Amino acid sequence: MPHNELYVRYARLADAPAILDITTEYARQGIMLERSGDNIVENIRNFFVAEYNGEVIGCCAIAFYTLKLAEIRSLAVFNRYKMKGIGRLLVEKAESVLREEGVSEVFVLTLNSDFFKRVGYHEIQKEYFPQKIWRDCTHCPKLMACDEIAMMKKLSQTVNH
Ligand SMILES: CC(C)(COP(=O)(O)OP(=O)(O)OC[C@H]1O[C@@H](n2cnc3c(N)ncnc32)[C@H](O)[C@@H]1OP(=O)(O)O)[C@@H](O)C(=O)NCCC(=O)NCCS
Repeated sequence: MPHNELYVRYARLADAPAILDITTEYARQGIMLERSGDNIVENIRNFFVAEYNGEVIGCCAIAFYTLKLAEIRSLAVFNRYKMKGIGRLLVEKAESVLREEGVSEVFVLTLNSDFFKRVGYHEIQKEYFPQKIWRDCTHCPKLMACDEIAMMKKLSQTVNH
């Protein structure tokens, strides 16, 4: 891969500090859920990163809930690289992996519904996915005043010949 090309790949363990940098910036602004360095390391196999000129500039993660349902989470792109199509590339990579796994519905909890609308998601009631509430939301300081918007997309399955 040429050095100056932008690409999205599975994260490696060594990417964990960069992922922490990118997500912490937005967690401090209250835009996304904070993840500790340990949590990122434990979940590194679920992360993808966007790399440009040898630098990790964006990330996202997937979380499986059932055989058919998954979440895209921890999506973030460094401020200076926003609005260049990198968020879309990360979501597309995550979706293609989920599709390969046979997942048919993917959801997000986000404050940025405009971005997710652009990449094909539509708003749903949070109660549509109760598993999410029990896994993460019970630990969230915003539990009783959640301002995140739940959105989902149905993934079309590719036909294997
Ligand atoms: C959300 C985020 C990852 C988007 O990444 P990005 O690289 O800037 O997005 P892209 O350039 O791929 O944008 C894809 C499309 O969404 C649109 N878009 C992106 N951010 C937008 C915003 N805040 N408002 C409206 N539209 C937006 C783009 O204009 C583009 O539209 P197009 O299809 O007409 O070209 C980035 O803004 C970010 O890191 N935000 C902070 C963390 C966050 O909110 N994460 C998501 C919730 S977990």
